[in-house]
Amino acid sequence: MNGGRWELPLWQALLPVGRDPVTGGYHRLSFTEADAACRDWFARAAADRGLRAETDRNGNLWAWWTPRDGGGEQAIVTGSHLDSVPGGGPYDGPLGVVSAFAAIDLLRDRGLEPARPLGVVAFAEEEGARFGSACLGSRLTVGAIAPQEARALTDADGVTLAAAIAEAGGDPGMIGPDPERLARIEAFIELHIEQGRALARLGAPVGVAGAIWPHGRWRIDLAGQADHAGTTRLADRRDPMLPFAAAVVAARQAAQDEDGLATIGKVVAQPGAVNAICSSVSAWLDARARDEARLERIVSRVLRAAAESAASQGVQSSERLDSFTPGVRFSDGLRARLAATLARAGTVPPVLDTGAGHDAGVLAAAVPAAMLFVRNPSGISHAPAEHADPQDCAAGVDALAAVLAELACR
Ligand code: GLV
Ligand code: MN
Ligand code: MN
Repeated sequence: MNGGRWELPLWQALLPVGRDPVTGGYHRLSFTEADAACRDWFARAAADRGLRAETDRNGNLWAWWTPRDGGGEQAIVTGSHLDSVPGGGPYDGPLGVVSAFAAIDLLRDRGLEPARPLGVVAFAEEEGARFGSACLGSRLTVGAIAPQEARALTDADGVTLAAAIAEAGGDPGMIGPDPERLARIEAFIELHIEQGRALARLGAPVGVAGAIWPHGRWRIDLAGQADHAGTTRLADRRDPMLPFAAAVVAARQAAQDEDGLATIGKVVAQPGAVNAICSSVSAWLDARARDEARLERIVSRVLRAAAESAASQGVQSSERLDSFTPGVRFSDGLRARLAATLARAGTVPPVLDTGAGHDAGVLAAAVPAAMLFVRNPSGISHAPAEHADPQDCAAGVDALAAVLAELACR
């Protein structure tokens, strides 16, 4: 690699936003105060660089470096997201946005000029942590979710997406497919921290994405009868915790049998008294597998286990799909171009498939898309311990700058 840098002031300015001082975890849920601070940070980063900033009708942020002659050609766009899961790490999302600005700085330092518009984007609600539907900003943009369905999504307090957008100063009536914007994009490159240990094992600071596994989220609702923990005979109980437990165990077993992944990471038990049987339990299943047939088998086993256990316990059960993302194979042509560019800069990046979802995977349905991964020594992600070494972040910026120079500059 050829001397990329890790843009510390830009990174440092974002680091405190939404950070829990006790756990170090990030809480940057969409359309909250922390999200607004991230958006201000993005606007400042764009303004400091003389980039034209705009928010599209789906709440995604864009910053444009345009050629002096206006550049009639299609754009190259890079970026990621700024929202986090509850208690997330600092790198998932922000690394791609900070690296995008830092790569532009590097191109300028080298005296390069864009031959076509070069955009930085931060997609809204990528994690789906507030409204339950992953990659919402990019999915709305490509038309993968209907606007009326999206507007009706609710958060844990019953606030609709429509109300949250309006509260944040946007117009929920405007959300929806944005084909004109997509038609102006030649290619999208997302840089992201790796959410596993493949690069660490291979001793490589940077890799490129091959494919994203199909994945989705399912909600299971179990309704029983609240009652006294100290007096209700076992035979008289209608306890929704039992089908919930059956679902957790089935998820682990089915994932193991299908060489996939299944997780129940969120559960709400009501009313939540130590000395009472729950009246209801809601649980969210996240499942991923290398192909849709395996995924389908995992999910149906988990849902069946919950339903059968519920029936045997006198508990009512229902389930619904919250979001589904088909498997994505990234453009072979664009990946080959990335690999050739990085090889010229002295790196042969490994090609990695991943079970993690990304806006690049959603955009790939509409425009050629590719991803660069930056090494994560522990592989931990969606947790405060998520980490990338500064020299690897710099290598990521360097790789991204080389790719942008090749695709967008003269
Ligand atoms: C996004 O990080 C996801 O894969 O859930
Ligand atoms: Mn994530
Ligand atoms: Mn991410």
